[in-house]
Amino acid sequence: MSRARPSIRCDELRTSGYASRRAYLTSVDASVDHRGAGFVGSHVADRLTADGHEVLLLDALLPQAHGTDGWAPAHEHVVGDVRDADLLARLLPGVDAVCHQAAMVGHGVDPSDAPAYAAHNDLGTAVLLAAMHAAGVLRLVLAGSMVVYGEGRYECAEHGVVRPLPRTTADLAAGLFEPRCPRCGQALASGLVGEDAPLDPRSTYAATKLAQEHLASAWARQCGGRVWSLRYHNVYGPRMPRDTPYAGVASIFRSALERGDPPQVLEDGRQRRDFVHVTDVAAANALALPPTSTGSRR
Ligand SMILES: NC(=O)c1ccc[n+]([C@@H]2O[C@H](COP(=O)([O-])OP(=O)(O)OC[C@H]3O[C@@H](n4cnc5c(N)ncnc54)[C@H](O)[C@@H]3O)[C@@H](O)[C@H]2O)c1
Ligand SMILES: [Zn+2]
Repeated sequence: MSRARPSIRCDELRTSGYASRRAYLTSVDASVDHRGAGFVGSHVADRLTADGHEVLLLDALLPQAHGTDGWAPAHEHVVGDVRDADLLARLLPGVDAVCHQAAMVGHGVDPSDAPAYAAHNDLGTAVLLAAMHAAGVLRLVLAGSMVVYGEGRYECAEHGVVRPLPRTTADLAAGLFEPRCPRCGQALASGLVGEDAPLDPRSTYAATKLAQEHLASAWARQCGGRVWSLRYHNVYGPRMPRDTPYAGVASIFRSALERGDPPQVLEDGRQRRDFVHVTDVAAANALALPPTSTGSRR
């Protein structure tokens, strides 16, 4: 696989021969480990290429994910924004399926982040879906997130599975981190979250990730398309993004280790999180894509 392919300027797209393209992916590859350009997307691109797909990447190279350093992708790519309908209208014809990884990630800083999350994640998805419809592209794999479930699963010995109330300041100050039963106030036991758990997005990011799913679901109903939303847990592996408010906890742990600091686990350290290796996430994306060129109306 060649590294450092030149990026394609938008004015070159018309003559670049995209008609035989089989997969189109909205995130980029990073050839430099640990700088984190398009972390998941880069591995999906590697996997799809290894599986024989022809891959084109689109990424806006957000500075919060990429910093301002140079960037050397390993796959054919376009630097552009998924909210750019004109650009998508030029890229999508001939594409069989879209793997939509592009998003503003992490839990952000404060509510001033909300417009940017909504714009990149939800307006971006809406523009993409409209452009896919216009181009007759009917297959979408969406990078979903387990954040749509909110709190984990909690069970009271007396009242069964319950939705815990927010933890009180007094409990937290006393080092009592487990949420209590909303009916009897007793401590709850945590359990594994099933796929059919109630949806309960509790952050701006989570709300925008869930809205992406609803938008995609409405698109599929309206145009007969098919969408798979893969709700990733904390993803780890090579090329994790930098440690910023716009990265996941695995990146924060990795950056601490790189600095020679111990990863900081908050509270009593007894909370549980699921972690998935990025190559497993890439494999899941590859499995969700149609095996043959059947994803387009033409
Ligand atoms: N990393 C995780 O632990 C994790 C967990 C659950 C879900 N996800 C989802 O997986 C996907 C990929 O996340 P990641 O960890 O690779 O993050 P990342 O920040 O490394 O990659 C996201 C990419 O999207 C690009 N992007 C953002 N807005 C864009 C826009 N408007 N147009 C074009 N490109 C844009 C960014 O420049 C970045 O390269 C995201 O949708 C994220 O919500 C990630
Ligand atoms: Zn109870």
